[in-house]
Amino acid sequence: MISEAIITTIKKARRIVVFSGAGMSAESGVPTFRDDLTGLWQQYDFMKLATPEAFKADPALVWGWYEWRRTRLLAVEPNAGHQAIARWQAHYPLTIVTQNVDDLHERAGSYNVIHIHGSIFAPRCTKCKTPYEFESHYVQEPESGRRIDPPSCKVCEHPVRPGVVWFGEALHEPDLRAAIFAAENCDLVIAVGTSGVVQPAALIPRWAKDKGAVVVQINPSPTPIDEVSDYNIRMTAAQALPQIVEALNLD
Ligand code: OAD
Repeated sequence: MISEAIITTIKKARRIVVFSGAGMSAESGVPTFRDDLTGLWQQYDFMKLATPEAFKADPALVWGWYEWRRTRLLAVEPNAGHQAIARWQAHYPLTIVTQNVDDLHERAGSYNVIHIHGSIFAPRCTKCKTPYEFESHYVQEPESGRRIDPPSCKVCEHPVRPGVVWFGEALHEPDLRAAIFAAENCDLVIAVGTSGVVQPAALIPRWAKDKGAVVVQINPSPTPIDEVSDYNIRMTAAQALPQIVEALNLD
């Protein structure tokens, strides 16, 4: 049950940012980053796979991992949490800032989603940055994963890379600016399904708090965001968000 105080606070807010992380997509069947990797990937640490150094050292390993994740994403659906946010956004102009490289917010009907860690569906050339179009929209990868050589750019023939932000890389400047602007100009942040440990994304609730916003966190487990949150809803995204949206009486 979401408290009356939280619903009243949300009703009062005029500029709302939803800041989501991997836990947002967990109930769609997408494992969070800090869940164990399975199959071929079991022997690797995701923090080592998701780096420019790993891609340089072994492009087939890293491209294979992203293809495995991409095809798994194609096979899942937005959950009740994504749908609740989309329903809310249809009535009210929320700003959604996500660390997720999936497209589940958009597939639920949300728009203007700021993907501060990029998108797994938007690979580009390592050299000339030309976007790469997947030839086949659905390729079933083996359950255990496999190594796959990255395709070549159609323009300059250099290898294509995943369209995500890796550890050690700078965020795409326009996305970062948009996220900072949203955080500094909102009066409420709902941080949902994020461990709040990866910088600079994890600063979003803090930037908002510093400018006087209220922070509501939805996460079954404690995180460093607890230090700035005014309210913690210890529920999953797919449990909490439909209850919140229902209580707002939007229709
Ligand atoms: P994490 O995997 O670090 O954290 C997921 C969070 O979701 C944890 O705090 C869980 O307690 C919580 N959680 C799990 N299931 C949930 C559910 N059903 N509902 C709500 N919360 C749930 O994911 P992120 O915080 O997104 O970066 O990680 C941030 C970044 O680190 C990712 O964007 C990625 C990763 O490495 C890059 O790839 C650069």
